[in-house]
Amino acid sequence: MLLRHGVRRVASATQLAVQSSRLLDGRRPLIQPHDLRPKGVVDMLTGKPVQSFNDSLGVELPHVDLTDDFDYDDIEALKQACDEAGGIVVFTNQKPEMTVHDHVRFARSVADHDNTCLEPHGVAAGHKDAPEMLEIVREANAGVVFGENWHSDFSFHDESASYSILRGAEVPRLGVNDTLFSSVEDAWDALPQEKKDLLIDLRCFHSANRAYGKGHGGNSRAAMEKTDTMAFKKDMPILDFDVLQPLVSMHPRTGRLGLFASPTFTTHIEGVSAEENKEILNFVYQWFARPEFCTRVSWQPNQVVMWDNRSLSHKGVADECSERRVVQRVTVRGSSPMNHRGEQWSLTHKVKAAEAGLF
Ligand code: SIN
Repeated sequence: MLLRHGVRRVASATQLAVQSSRLLDGRRPLIQPHDLRPKGVVDMLTGKPVQSFNDSLGVELPHVDLTDDFDYDDIEALKQACDEAGGIVVFTNQKPEMTVHDHVRFARSVADHDNTCLEPHGVAAGHKDAPEMLEIVREANAGVVFGENWHSDFSFHDESASYSILRGAEVPRLGVNDTLFSSVEDAWDALPQEKKDLLIDLRCFHSANRAYGKGHGGNSRAAMEKTDTMAFKKDMPILDFDVLQPLVSMHPRTGRLGLFASPTFTTHIEGVSAEENKEILNFVYQWFARPEFCTRVSWQPNQVVMWDNRSLSHKGVADECSERRVVQRVTVRGSSPMNHRGEQWSLTHKVKAAEAGLF
């Protein structure tokens, strides 16, 4: 299979063992049931209809059983497939009896491969049987939806998320309530040079407080408040500080650059006026939300999706709210995001969480 435009393999990638490469048997492009998707659904950020034309993004692996044990080479094979597909792998045909513990165990092997760990949600209480797991419950006819605006998971952590692994536990009919992804790397590549020059060395603060803090209008906090099935943690120290991240980050495996900011978690760009902040961030968000950078993952029963938060921004589409939807997410801790020179700040540059009035 051809590598997607711009991907380069890491020098240290192991030669895949034959056994591991069998995991990739039958790989194929994602199904795109465009005809089943409701028309005219408006993106809450851009105010434009949700459209996605980047159908080369993502790969389906139909023959991986996530309840199996995986060794280092197996996980490397899956991560390479993910890199080559721009950051999305859809595992179809999972066993209906797959448990939350199987899900966590698979995610843990993805984390172990990078000598890292799982990152439970900092604000939402975990699943009762698996505290590492966030269960996102959208009750039928919910007025507000968790995760409905663009974001990269946990970008407010100093070591922000690498992979998220999402299982559809109660999925809607095919083609509605999809997960929408934008390749922030394709979006970066397509920028005119003068925009790249403007953005490349900017840094911005990311904040959990922006999405979940009191006094902020984030839809995720409102969604949690309006349902009995998602609860806040008792202690939420993550709300106390914001971290400094590069606006353009370099992927640690592929070396690709991507736009690393979101209306959900980014508070402001360092060292520019309020007016410029608004102008630049609005430009970035409108740019990466363009249909040519976006694809939709439609939900089928017994499906698990793994995506790379360093390559993508995503959001939950809410185009058929009469149906209950439950998805379960386990997230892998990554590293401190780095800029095009390999510099990182998030571990050391923290400030008191911004006040609500700032944004
Ligand atoms: C998420 O933001 O992680 C969940 C996306 C979705 O609900 O489709």
